[in-house]
Amino acid sequence: MRYPQLGRYPAARHIIAQVSDTHLLHGGAPLGGAADTVGALAQFCDQLERLGDSIDAIVVTGDVADLGEPDAYRLAREALEPLAERVAAQLVWVMGNHDERAAFRTELLLEPAAESPVHRIVDVDGLRVIALDSTVPGYHHGELDESSLDWLDAALAEPAEHGTVIAMHHAPIATPLALMDVLELRGQERFAEVVRGSDVRLILGGHLHYSTNGSFAGIPVSVAGATAYTMDLSAPPRALVGIDGGRSFSLVHLFDEGLVTSVVPVGRFPAVTSFGEEYLAELEALPADERLDRFSRKRPAQ
Ligand SMILES: [Fe+2]
Ligand SMILES: [Fe+2]
Repeated sequence: MRYPQLGRYPAARHIIAQVSDTHLLHGGAPLGGAADTVGALAQFCDQLERLGDSIDAIVVTGDVADLGEPDAYRLAREALEPLAERVAAQLVWVMGNHDERAAFRTELLLEPAAESPVHRIVDVDGLRVIALDSTVPGYHHGELDESSLDWLDAALAEPAEHGTVIAMHHAPIATPLALMDVLELRGQERFAEVVRGSDVRLILGGHLHYSTNGSFAGIPVSVAGATAYTMDLSAPPRALVGIDGGRSFSLVHLFDEGLVTSVVPVGRFPAVTSFGEEYLAELEALPADERLDRFSRKRPAQ
């Protein structure tokens, strides 16, 4: 469902909700004994439900389970699958370094266990979403090896109707955080060669546990924050501190030309200002100049 726009830009053609790093544990146990990862995921689901059928895809960019436990994947699937069905969105699961390929396949994708990379291509109404597995079994850093890059190269050989979004866990951008650079993505040189000049419009990442943006081979990169916990960029230099707060997810609006990504805080917060459907309908019914006068013109303080 798209609503009329009142400004110069049309409604987005595709909208993606990106959630990352849920880090669920068996039985929903608190992470590190402190972080309510199940409650945070439920809160995300509540907020997404409000957006209703405006969402075309829900992309989960890895570290779904903290220890790769089957029960943790079951919790994630039971939270997100019914939600995706209710809002009529496609659900795209992406592997993270905390995930285990076999359990990821059997519990999330309902496929036989296998240890090969979990790469996927999903068509979202003409937008090609590629779930790219950047994990290295037994390690936390990322790597795109030759066979994964050959697979990607072949996948991108023909452009998609509305272009391609790559969703991967280890994003190919720099981080100022101590130690996280040890866990960066390897194989970036050839990755750049593969995507440069292709129809890839955006690369989505996770893993960093804070929201950040950059570019790679001329392509925008957007990293979503985590729902499990947040890496504190205001911690002293050379310290790596994860905090029980600052959770967020991202929304990606893709237009026929261009795109925007936005960060949405996860949580319940009191409203400070609010305009409802009724007021919006009133404004929509006005001619453009009267609308500008009604909503834009400053009025003297009462
Ligand atoms: Fe993570
Ligand atoms: Fe990670």
